[in-house]
Amino acid sequence: MRPRRKASSRGAAATGRRTSGRMPLISGNWKMNHNHFEAIQTIQKLAYALNPDDYQHVDVSVHPPFTDLRSVQTVLQADDIPIALGAQDCHPADSGAYTGEVSAAMLAKLDVTYVIVGHSERRGLFGETDELVNAKAQAVLRHGMVPIVCVGETVEQRRAGQAHDVVTGQLTGSLDILDAETVAKLVVAYEPVWAIGTGETATPADAQDMCSHVRSLVAGRWGSDAAGALRIQYGGSVKPSNAPDLMEQPDIDGALVGGASLDAADFARIANYRLYAA
Ligand code: PGA
Repeated sequence: MRPRRKASSRGAAATGRRTSGRMPLISGNWKMNHNHFEAIQTIQKLAYALNPDDYQHVDVSVHPPFTDLRSVQTVLQADDIPIALGAQDCHPADSGAYTGEVSAAMLAKLDVTYVIVGHSERRGLFGETDELVNAKAQAVLRHGMVPIVCVGETVEQRRAGQAHDVVTGQLTGSLDILDAETVAKLVVAYEPVWAIGTGETATPADAQDMCSHVRSLVAGRWGSDAAGALRIQYGGSVKPSNAPDLMEQPDIDGALVGGASLDAADFARIANYRLYAA
């Protein structure tokens, strides 16, 4: 059964109309979860939970582990499902002696549209620098895909009043040498590290504050056209219950969802946040 929606939803929130003109992007980052059998089931359930009309209001992407990509691609193609395929990372080189790595060129061959780069787990657990994130973003762009560039401060940095400076440094370092036309097509995900997988979400006001800071930074360096077109996601314990309020913020154009994206019904509700607005 398709999930029941609120009959009372009306107006701009219900139609998904946004004054910015930017199409919202709701992305599910499955991290190291779901083998390829589970991935097939999840994508089938998700496709069933979303109506064809929903895709007029929101872009939806899923980012399974590398081992699942081919299986998910096959389901999406066979059933003509308009969910975009995403990856969680890539190597900056196109090929070579990099044992265990996967290149952007390989992902492009699998019809991947979006590639997450610089996720805080990559930065924190695997020591990725802004320079490396920048090289990965360039590789993704070189192969015609869109990088989702992640930035975000730790709890210590926030407590020390350094959140804006940290995000400024990550953003300028990760987007270095890109031109305005390219930046306009990017997705930036603001994910405060303290909110990831903790159940603790930034308040809509705090999330908006940082997303607006990101947009001003982009305007200052790449111009107002790039800033107006760039999509900014919020990520960190996004759930069906908090998605509508977060998505109501003028500078938040989407969500990067971890834990709640593993459940197709929850993720579909987040993608359809507009139907559940208060
Ligand atoms: P979470 O993860 O939704 O489980 O907090 C978000 C992310 O890491 O992208």
